[in-house]
Amino acid sequence: MSVAGAQPFIKLMQPSSHSVSPGIQRRHTLPASEVRPLNTQDAISVYEIEREAFTSVTGECPLYLDEVRHFLTLCPELSMGWFEEGRLVAFIIGSLWDQDRLSTDALTIHKPRGSTVHIHVLAVHRTFRQQGKGPILMWRYLQYLRCQPNVRRAVLMCEDFLIPFYCKSGFKVLGRCAITVGNLTFTEMWYPISGHAYMRRNSEAIRFPQHPLTLPVTNNDDQVDV
Ligand SMILES: CC(C)(COP(=O)(O)OP(=O)(O)OC[C@H]1O[C@@H](n2cnc3c(N)ncnc32)[C@H](O)[C@@H]1OP(=O)(O)O)[C@@H](O)C(=O)NCCC(=O)NCCS
Repeated sequence: MSVAGAQPFIKLMQPSSHSVSPGIQRRHTLPASEVRPLNTQDAISVYEIEREAFTSVTGECPLYLDEVRHFLTLCPELSMGWFEEGRLVAFIIGSLWDQDRLSTDALTIHKPRGSTVHIHVLAVHRTFRQQGKGPILMWRYLQYLRCQPNVRRAVLMCEDFLIPFYCKSGFKVLGRCAITVGNLTFTEMWYPISGHAYMRRNSEAIRFPQHPLTLPVTNNDDQVDV
């Protein structure tokens, strides 16, 4: 083989900024915005956000660290995390439930045959609140649930001051919740999961969670199109 003929091969073997393909470069770059299911390695980041959002306010929190790990082990596909440059900024954790209404067992038990998704917690990191991220993440989560073949509805329990917030996401009041935590009482809310997004061609939902969605980067960090 002539030297000239061998040159392209030699070039490929030499590591230089010009010879690394864009695909390889991307693997080392954290995406600006990414939505993906959580895993047990995210548990501490989840709990840090919860501790600030709940424990420091009421002394209670929806899921303690062990419970976060428990649900992220049993049903990671029912969680969703929003990451900015690799940092968790908002998340939802859910599990399955098989009764009409929530009871204390629903706080710790995942019922794999249930058709109700119990949303244990939605929380946004303190510095990213008031930017619409909570409602956007909830919207994406509810769309995603439409890909889950056996899911018929989502339920959550919230303090009364958050009822208008969840109503804006389409939840309806189901009634007083049987569960109390310390002095805290809750209202139970529900959302019907209808249709099957997985049947639609070219649906973004089809790509989740196998391929994490990357949110488009905008000039304004506060605005993310979905
Ligand atoms: C509640 C929470 C998830 C909202 O997410 P967010 O990204 O900050 O939501 P936004 O700032 O876009 O607010 C959306 C709407 O909800 C309202 N809202 C937000 N937090 C609220 C609160 N604590 N009480 C009442 N209304 C609230 C906002 O006023 C806004 O209303 P608007 O659309 O009329 O302006 C977020 O504030 C949070 O993580 N709080 C601590 C944890 C928590 O309470 N989680 C919910 C219980 S599981």
